[in-house]
Amino acid sequence: MKTLLVTGGAGFIGANFVRYWLERYPGDRVINLDALTYAGNLENLKGVEANDNYRFVRGDICDASLLRTLFDEEVVDTVVNFAAESHVDRSITDPGAFVRTNIEGTFTLLEAAANAWRGDAPDCRFLHVSTDEVYGSLGPDDPPFTERTPYAPNSPYSASKAASDHLVRAWFHTYGLPVLTTNCSNNYGPYQFPEKLIPLVIMNALEDRPLPIYGDGKNVRDWLYVEDHCRGIDAVLAGGRAGETYNIGGCNEWTNIDIVARICRTLDELRPGGGPKEDLITYIKDRPGHDRRYAIDAGKLMRELDWAPLYQFEQGIVKTVQWYLEHPAWVEHARSGDYRNYYRQQYGHN
Ligand code: NAD
Ligand code: TYD
Repeated sequence: MKTLLVTGGAGFIGANFVRYWLERYPGDRVINLDALTYAGNLENLKGVEANDNYRFVRGDICDASLLRTLFDEEVVDTVVNFAAESHVDRSITDPGAFVRTNIEGTFTLLEAAANAWRGDAPDCRFLHVSTDEVYGSLGPDDPPFTERTPYAPNSPYSASKAASDHLVRAWFHTYGLPVLTTNCSNNYGPYQFPEKLIPLVIMNALEDRPLPIYGDGKNVRDWLYVEDHCRGIDAVLAGGRAGETYNIGGCNEWTNIDIVARICRTLDELRPGGGPKEDLITYIKDRPGHDRRYAIDAGKLMRELDWAPLYQFEQGIVKTVQWYLEHPAWVEHARSGDYRNYYRQQYGHN
């Protein structure tokens, strides 16, 4: 039986991971440490709270004394660090929050885990969840990112994640802490906060509001269904070699405009009525420093740890649209409060 400390487990991927893990390994204990920022939502964990093997702690990964207490109370053998500021647009307007949580927070968590590992928790391993954005931007004919692609982050978000990856690497080489790093491509699926492209487009389209596309809409992202990301992390925890990094991705490149058109057609089928949703597409000013293309080569994970995505994009996107249609209360709550202010500031209208 394992004891996992999952940070950021009330966010999009973290909540999917907590659910995945407790279902797959019902005997394991999961402690979820989350500060509940604007992106953290306990509704993402509805039903999980009743599980005796689950404990929620509201707290900040920058809080060294809270972490010390937590590592004293629990014998943790696996840390999975999802906690982060994760949205590129917010990193452009408020980079300080990203430096704090993503860099200082990862440092504080590494220190706490290393202390526990030297003391009562010698089996403790640290898996750091990172992004493909640390590798920078690809040209149209460049091969996908491998684990050997040099880091070239371009946004305050990706720069702060790159810095955190370097800290994790250093804690392995200098102190010997058994660490693993995963760099994953763009995720989609249930419980994603509606500031990100896919849920934003679904929710705006349902209300016949403009679907904002930055620049020419030809930027390319490599999309992976969130459950396949969780399975990738599981594979790395089970068989990954300490000190190594593993890329996770779907081999599934799409331009933004094609993704949005696809969501529109899916909604036209699932929710007929009114005009075609594609009529709502609105091109707006580009994001500063907007990376043109991301693509992941997940060959190492596939070869060494026998991982492969289970979901085809065509199937995953329909499942995702259906989920948002079936959870109107979640959608309503996610879009209240801070979200409305953010949206007005970012897009210049309600
Ligand atoms: P998210 O923004 O939905 O969730 C982040 C969670 O972290 C929230 O619950 C928030 O409350 C919590 N948090 C933020 N600051 C904290 C702090 N100081 N202490 C404790 N908790 C804090 O993010 P996500 O999309 O679920 O991403 C999770 C991780 O995966 C991030 O590290 C991100 O960089 C990485 N990642 C995301 C994607 C993607 O497509 N979303 C792709 C690859 C990697
Ligand atoms: P996003 O979901 O913010 O993820 P990331 O920037 O981390 O890849 O954006 C995905 C792509 O969609 C990215 O190229 C920016 C673009 N985008 C838009 O065109 N309009 C929007 O309103 C948003 C939020 C994103």
